[in-house]
Amino acid sequence: MRLNLSALICLIPAVLSIPFEGFTKRPNTCPKTPVNATRYDAKLPDPFMFANGRPVKTLSDFACRQREVSELFQTFELGAKPGNPDSVFGSISGPNLTVTVCVHGRTVSFTPTIAYPANGTAPHPAIIALGGLTIPAPSGVAIIIYNNDDIGAQLDQSSRDQGKFFELYPELGANGAMVAWAWGISRILDVLETLPEANINTKKIAVTGCSRNGKGALVAGALDSRIALTIPQESGSGGTACWRLSDYENHNASTQTASEIVQENVWFATQFDDFANTTVDMLPIDHHMLAGLVAPRGLLVIDNIGYEWLGPWSSYGCMKTAHRIFQALGVSDHLGYSMSPSHLHCSFPSNQGPELQAFVDKFLFDKISDTNFFNPAGNITFDDAQWVDWSTPHLR
Ligand SMILES: *[C@@H]1O[C@H](CO)[C@@H](O)[C@H](O)[C@H]1NC(C)=O
Ligand SMILES: *[C@@H]1O[C@H](CO)[C@@H](O)[C@H](O)[C@H]1NC(C)=O
Ligand SMILES: *[C@@H]1O[C@H](CO)[C@@H](O)[C@H](O)[C@H]1NC(C)=O
Ligand SMILES: *[C@@H]1O[C@H](CO)[C@@H](O)[C@H](O)[C@H]1NC(C)=O
Ligand SMILES: *[C@@H]1O[C@H](CO)[C@@H](O)[C@H](O)[C@H]1NC(C)=O
Ligand SMILES: *[C@@H]1O[C@H](CO)[C@@H](O)[C@H](O)[C@H]1NC(C)=O
Repeated sequence: MRLNLSALICLIPAVLSIPFEGFTKRPNTCPKTPVNATRYDAKLPDPFMFANGRPVKTLSDFACRQREVSELFQTFELGAKPGNPDSVFGSISGPNLTVTVCVHGRTVSFTPTIAYPANGTAPHPAIIALGGLTIPAPSGVAIIIYNNDDIGAQLDQSSRDQGKFFELYPELGANGAMVAWAWGISRILDVLETLPEANINTKKIAVTGCSRNGKGALVAGALDSRIALTIPQESGSGGTACWRLSDYENHNASTQTASEIVQENVWFATQFDDFANTTVDMLPIDHHMLAGLVAPRGLLVIDNIGYEWLGPWSSYGCMKTAHRIFQALGVSDHLGYSMSPSHLHCSFPSNQGPELQAFVDKFLFDKISDTNFFNPAGNITFDDAQWVDWSTPHLR
């Protein structure tokens, strides 16, 4: 019965207008990306130079560069995030938001839950939490719990190609799980945009997650410009840490590297193995540029110095370099960095509460708040000169 209904739903023409998030629709005024964009670079690659060597001089160049960087991430690391499905439908019943997506006659449904705030006025801002909420729920904000494992499984290597995304797109079986999760979040937004009874303000959406799901939160925020605020928590290597820096940090400490991560799980596309197994220095990207895809939107990075495996130095240096991108756009205070002294992984120290609230106030409530902070813990320092050989322009 349910299947028949879904099949019927799939025959109804798409009624939604869904912004295209894939990379094939790059404006033709943007420079063309070379067929082979790989290039040896032991330092952090220049976010302000196109893959063809042309410099980024203006804000509109930078918009093109972001398209290119998104394409490069999808090509080399994540796998492709598909654009518009044939149709997307949604309904809400109590806390259950059912999202039904149809592609080429195939259908999947998934059901995130919405917890509405005791306070505040509808439509509410919302935080979409991958796998469960690990930061305190701010007052007045709805919490949407998203079971990302259901969309792209992440048990271990056996999870390759498993999950609802892959039922819908069997031809994308080499994709990483994270791009599948990001795709699912975009579909939640599609539904919320056309479902006024859900009472969610889709212009005021944040995404968050911790650890592996923090990596996923960053990818989701990077690949959908409708997300106002991205909050990766203790996301480590493959998240807010840079591959090149994690390799370096691993010389002194036991830090997760690309070569280890591709053995552990299926977060990345299979084509990333080539780089992970040989050298990440051939990648035309690193994760300062993933964070740069979020700009000029809000990005609050929550880190914990206590776990060498997460690469705290790598994450700090990577985000310090990403900060240059926000500076170039004149929105230095849209990237906040908050690292705490050692504590239990994915617990949230209360002294980071004010920093979280400042970002929530600015990006979910349009309040004036001071988000101009960049706070490492311990004695962490980062030698820019060793890792960055480009300068930061002022883009207009
Ligand atoms: C791509 O270009 C790089 C740098 O020029 C070169 O080392 C690499 O072999 C090329 N790869 C392919 C597949 O042509
Ligand atoms: C929401 O979903 C849960 C789990 O499937 C179910 O038990 C509950 O009855 C649903 N609530 C409503 C109001 O639909
Ligand atoms: C509701 O708002 C009031 C006033 O802003 C605040 O004191 C209270 O803690 C809020 N309650 C909840 C549940 O967020
Ligand atoms: C690793 O240790 C060396 C020598 O002790 C030091 O110079 C270097 O800065 C350290 N690197 C990191 C990333 O901690
Ligand atoms: C990468 O290395 C692992 C472990 O040695 C191996 O199983 C895998 O096939 C390699 N992948 C590629 C693309 O070289
Ligand atoms: C910072 O450096 C000082 C002096 O080297 C050392 O005593 C202290 O333990 C360090 N603090 C942290 C949190 O690593």
